Amino acid sequence: MDPRLESLRINPPRLKADFEALSEIGSTGDGGVHRPSLSAAHLAARAWLRERIASAGLDFRQDGAGNHSATLECGPPGAKTLLLGSHLDSVPYGGRFDGALGVLAALETLRTVKESGLSLPVDLEAIDFTDEEGTLVGLLGSRALAGKLTSAELQSPRGGRADLLAGLARAGLTEQGLLSARRDPQTLAGYLELHIEQGPRLIREGAEIGVVTAIVGIASYRLSYAGRADHAGTTPMPDRLDAAQGASAFTLAVRKILMEEFPDCVANVGAMTFHPGAFNIVPARVDLSLEFRAPTVADFNRLEDALLRRARAEAERYDLELAVEFLGKHRPAPMSASAQEAIAGACADLDLRSIPLASGAGHDPQSLAGVIPVGMFFIPSVGGASHSPREFSKWEHCVKGANVLLQAALRAVD
Ligand code: HGY
Ligand code: MN
Ligand code: MN
Repeated sequence: MDPRLESLRINPPRLKADFEALSEIGSTGDGGVHRPSLSAAHLAARAWLRERIASAGLDFRQDGAGNHSATLECGPPGAKTLLLGSHLDSVPYGGRFDGALGVLAALETLRTVKESGLSLPVDLEAIDFTDEEGTLVGLLGSRALAGKLTSAELQSPRGGRADLLAGLARAGLTEQGLLSARRDPQTLAGYLELHIEQGPRLIREGAEIGVVTAIVGIASYRLSYAGRADHAGTTPMPDRLDAAQGASAFTLAVRKILMEEFPDCVANVGAMTFHPGAFNIVPARVDLSLEFRAPTVADFNRLEDALLRRARAEAERYDLELAVEFLGKHRPAPMSASAQEAIAGACADLDLRSIPLASGAGHDPQSLAGVIPVGMFFIPSVGGASHSPREFSKWEHCVKGANVLLQAALRAVD
């Protein structure tokens, strides 16, 4: 590689100024942000990004999925494009590093290459993918760009169809635009993403960078236990068809099944809604959101079967009806060996200790895996905290991560 490229480093004060400004958009005042995809706060963050792209003298592009990009033509005419990025949307009341750091580091990479005046074998694009977090659909923008999004997924998304349509309307997007946002993979050299680990392993291992080897598979279901509404005072206990009993028994069973039979997997009941939901009415129906994750397809299928079988067993035990609604699935995805080598090589050049790491969180590279070369790496999360205002990474690690992204990108295309 050209020694002038090898010596390139990002501009830490500029990255920090961006990070601090972005953290104010949708700030919850306690260190976190509330920027659910296509909410007013998320759209404000995107407007801020467009302004930063313009002031950097980079070109802006938006596709039918609303993915926002800065582009830099630093390759020869007709060159492929290397994508770098992450997402600006957050989970409800989440942290300010998740996704945001990756988008800003990608933007900083383009600015640094542009300022150097050096040319590359490829063009570069810093991208902010729509709805990575799945408050609407999940990995929406990256699946659309990969050409994997189906109209069926948009009919019963895990965030609800009404919320999806309202978000699309706010952003000026359409279902047709989403479904036609596929990018020709022949025009892409690959995708690299910097992200926080969102877990405790890097700190426990004393490593500064985690080179992601694979990303976990994720499935989402809504389960509805239905009994009978009755007077909570006059109905004898044995006579009740209490939907809360089935939903609660299943929720407790989920933890037991995972701890005893699926040590490499996780599952979560993240929401439970009682209907009608009053002190003095035996609940007629309880809806619960079930999400589970597995590192391999075999584990994924075995776990899905075990959980749904148990869900039905608890319904029978409490003489309840059970409705099972499938809300989407992302397969486990290996990261490309070439991308892992480029990242590990950049870490070695930057004298950073890196370790291979499987990702327990879902991420946009899993949408693009199998379509173009993809790679991802993590910086440490203090206390392993994420999806919470407690989310925090040391600024020195953010800077080191951004330099790894820059140098890994240069290595990946060298
Ligand atoms: O939920 C996840 O795994 C990721 O943070 N979107
Ligand atoms: Mn994320
Ligand atoms: Mn997240």
